[in-house]
Amino acid sequence: MSTHPWWQTTVIYQIYPRSFQDTSGNGVGDLPGITSRLDYLSDTLGVGAIWISPFYKSPMADFGYDVADYTSVDPLFGTMNDFDELLDEVHARGMKLIIDWVPNHSSDEHPWFVESRSSRDNPKRDWYTWRDPKPDGSPPNNWVSAFTGPAWNFDETTGQYYLCTFTTKQADLNWRNPEVQEAMLADLAFWLDRGVDGIRVDVAHFVMKDPELRDNPLVEGEPVINTKDHGEYDLYEHIYDKGHEDNHALYRDVRALLDSYQPERFSVGEIYIADWREWASYYGDLDELHLPFNFSLLWAPWTAAGISGEVNAAEAAIPPGGWPSYVLGNHDNNRIATRFGEEQMPLAAMLLLTLRGVPTLYYGDELGIPERYIPPEQQLDPHGRLLPGAGRDGCRTPMQWDSSAHAGFSSDGTETTWLPLSDDWSDRNVAKHLDDPGSLLNLYRRLLAYRASSDDLQTGDYTHLEAPEGCFAYRRGDLTVALNFTNEELVLQFGGSVELSTYPDDEATPGRLRPHEGIIIK
Ligand code: GLC
Repeated sequence: MSTHPWWQTTVIYQIYPRSFQDTSGNGVGDLPGITSRLDYLSDTLGVGAIWISPFYKSPMADFGYDVADYTSVDPLFGTMNDFDELLDEVHARGMKLIIDWVPNHSSDEHPWFVESRSSRDNPKRDWYTWRDPKPDGSPPNNWVSAFTGPAWNFDETTGQYYLCTFTTKQADLNWRNPEVQEAMLADLAFWLDRGVDGIRVDVAHFVMKDPELRDNPLVEGEPVINTKDHGEYDLYEHIYDKGHEDNHALYRDVRALLDSYQPERFSVGEIYIADWREWASYYGDLDELHLPFNFSLLWAPWTAAGISGEVNAAEAAIPPGGWPSYVLGNHDNNRIATRFGEEQMPLAAMLLLTLRGVPTLYYGDELGIPERYIPPEQQLDPHGRLLPGAGRDGCRTPMQWDSSAHAGFSSDGTETTWLPLSDDWSDRNVAKHLDDPGSLLNLYRRLLAYRASSDDLQTGDYTHLEAPEGCFAYRRGDLTVALNFTNEELVLQFGGSVELSTYPDDEATPGRLRPHEGIIIK
């Protein structure tokens, strides 16, 4: 029996609920849809935990990341009963359910904000950050929205600006007000009491800002753009509008709340920080977030040197006893099949599922769904509408289940799905992949099954190994993993026998790697 807590040995599967399965026929996915596909996740694929992006009541300005009631289910997604049934069914299959928690901002339609904006002396005024304009009428400081434009929105009724780091419909909560802390943690406890197993914390390091709201300095020299094009946002050093050290006290409080439950509840934070030391600080003394998501593989060059450099840096940065995590795709980034190229998809699968730590797999990446091009003028995503080119619709297209109407995502009678399907859905879908022994989905299944049966992969140490240029090789316990990032054959010096290859034949040997091949050797 493993002595590791469940969250260390699990594989997380991210579901964007609008896009997984529609059961109501309105072209938008829903909670009963997820429940109806649980056998796929537990038996066919074999993941251990599901993280669902927000399903709370919301005007959907940022498709649910603008929460109007933290303890509700938006009717678009179903009812609280649907949620309870989903949770029960997840648990009945021995899986865990992780929900999204959005502490940085609420919707401007949340009753708290409606009150807050109603007058300057409303008791909830201070639940958000309100400031007078500068004498010339401009915003109180130079902070820029992560989606571009000022991070402040002027409110005519009360003559002040409120802080909004994303869209103007997402008002930043003032966590320095103890009433906000209390109310937000009470709403979080609502879900923990219902039995959810963990939370994914949205923009976790944004919550605490400089109390004096000082201007951010401009970046010196060429700004480094390490996420998707953020335009104006990347012109500034974001030292005052996020990442304040008081975040750590907040996550110690969150952790204490999670730890007060039996069995233990888990947290993973969205921490887009390139500086390893600062990133790792969110582990605290193992008393803050259980895991900060590690997004470094999203930014690194897709080469053996690029990827191994990030893995080694992460391994070195993580505090003793801390546990790594890896992400290749999510609802905010271009699909991996388009970023890395189709022929590298099997390698990406083996990398993600053989590194030390918790892998998070984004729905549809197990099929290699490509990014769907959606022209700027047709983008639904607020980021894409504000900043042409930055749109995220293309990675949020409906899941491709089979070759029937709407790829089995919506029923036949449905007029249209909320986003179009990716172009190749009639060939690239779960049913087709299951029929093809050499498909990417079948490789994911083999890798997941192998990982589930291997203590070495689940908990073994990681050691980087010398290998020819273009090959990233490492040891995990008694296993060796060798990955060929090039389109040429590479000669290897490893002994042993091949346990699993990304090639569907049985010609793999420990002495060479075919183009784009990955192997696990024992
Ligand atoms: C996170 C979410 C993203 C959302 C933003 C604002 O980055 O992943 O989808 O737009 O936070 O909540």
